[in-house]
Amino acid sequence: MPAPIGLFFGSTTGNTAEVAERIAALIGPGQVDLFDVADNGLAGIDDYRLLIFGIPTWDFGEQQEDWLDIWHELDSLELPGVRFALFGLGDQIGYAEWYLDAMGMLHDRLRDAGAEPVGYWPREGYDFEASKALTADGSRFVGLALDEDSQRAETDARIEAWVPQVLEAFGLSG
Ligand SMILES: Cc1cc2nc3c(=O)[nH]c(=O)nc-3n(C[C@H](O)[C@H](O)[C@H](O)COP(=O)(O)O)c2cc1C
Repeated sequence: MPAPIGLFFGSTTGNTAEVAERIAALIGPGQVDLFDVADNGLAGIDDYRLLIFGIPTWDFGEQQEDWLDIWHELDSLELPGVRFALFGLGDQIGYAEWYLDAMGMLHDRLRDAGAEPVGYWPREGYDFEASKALTADGSRFVGLALDEDSQRAETDARIEAWVPQVLEAFGLSG
């Protein structure tokens, strides 16, 4: 039987995969099924009404390569009644003009498919030039913003603050 939450991620150098494991461990055993989109794309996604997606940005504002390979699968998704939360990885110093762009692109596609986003995250505490992952008013990211290159020391605390918010929005807390 599927767990209540499906977590789909892609990862080239392992950072997003590692964060996905940490998020799953915090959520708890039996609560989340992990899928690397490099294996079977988004196969199985229809089994879940609560979804988490992990996506790093690569190559000056592009999707990570495994996400890019399966991006067309997003075209046929219909997700009314589904809630989703995103976490994105990027490098705000090295790629300051494109920080977390891919997370913003994925957010828009999922919202267009009818799903409801949760787990937005404040912009304070980051230093970059531009990002497609910001809300229209620029005050928040559309998901958890992580940076294993320039702010690695912040990651655990950010995850620990974000996961309970997402579980509450999913109706799974307490
Ligand atoms: C060649 C290259 C291009 C990158 N381009 C971006 C980018 O445009 N925007 C960004 O926020 N991060 C960028 N990054 C940083 C990666 O997103 C970051 O290292 C991330 O943690 C990688 O995650 P992964 O190990 O799961 O693939 C880039 C890194 C490299 C090496």
